[in-house]
Amino acid sequence: MNNVGYYNGEYGPIEEMRIPMNDRAVYFGDGVYEAVLVKNRVIFSLEEHLDRFWRSFSALRIPFAMSREELRTELYKMVDLLDTDDPLVLYWQASRGTASRTHTFPKEGKANLMITVKPFVMKDMKTFRHRLLTVEDTRFFHCDVKTLNLIPNVMAAQQAEEAGCTEAVFHRGERVTEGAHSNVSILKDGVLKTAPLDHLILPGITRMHLLQLAGQCGIPVLEEPFTLEELKEADEVLVTSSTALCLKAETIDGAPVRMSAPELVEKLQEAYRQKFERETDPALRKS
Ligand code: PDD
Repeated sequence: MNNVGYYNGEYGPIEEMRIPMNDRAVYFGDGVYEAVLVKNRVIFSLEEHLDRFWRSFSALRIPFAMSREELRTELYKMVDLLDTDDPLVLYWQASRGTASRTHTFPKEGKANLMITVKPFVMKDMKTFRHRLLTVEDTRFFHCDVKTLNLIPNVMAAQQAEEAGCTEAVFHRGERVTEGAHSNVSILKDGVLKTAPLDHLILPGITRMHLLQLAGQCGIPVLEEPFTLEELKEADEVLVTSSTALCLKAETIDGAPVRMSAPELVEKLQEAYRQKFERETDPALRKS
């Protein structure tokens, strides 16, 4: 099989899977999700993603019957169905359940779990360069919850693509928040600066890793808001997400990024590459 889909216990090729019209994910986006990389059949940073998945449930008050162990087992079953050591992208989401359309929570029913796994070609951190487009952030104030409601992100990503760019960077007025599907950090005068964890950004797992790695590399970290001007004046701009790890940017709104601290970027990327290789060593697989 080249890819596998799962829905509440049923498996099949993703293109052939069907979900009920009354799944609340369909008409309300009433659910939460995670996306991770897999290599050597090991799910990278699974435990951190499971932690966030359960935090999202509690924010949305979605009762999820499956235990963490049961979900971990299902995810690994999916990975094994593809039977390859090559990189894969594993996605899963849970919606509040299946019920006719009423805004309030259904009285009965249980959460629906959907999982997909497919081959994935990772971008090369050494050579890939983002071209960024800044876009006003008009999202609601719950950006810290990984919900399925991603319309502003979808619109911004499309706007970026149509402008010949690879990612959109949201800002609320002068303050930079995050990317359409990434977190954005800057390097300035040897310091790594990234927006603080509040309701305006997703607490990215990759952002967290980047900060840990910066500490290990002796690069000071500041978790503070930064402005569009700081973004444009940065020595380096870093874009992080689970499916691309840590990539640097070469332009913002068509103007070149300084790219004047390549040695720091290389240090961080190499540290990240080593972490990824170490933690996807097949000997470490837990389930
Ligand atoms: N997106 N901010 C937003 C809005 C995101 O959608 C993502 C990830 C991130 C980075 O988070 P993490 O490092 O945990 O992947 C930040 C995923 C990859 C997606 O939607 O496919």
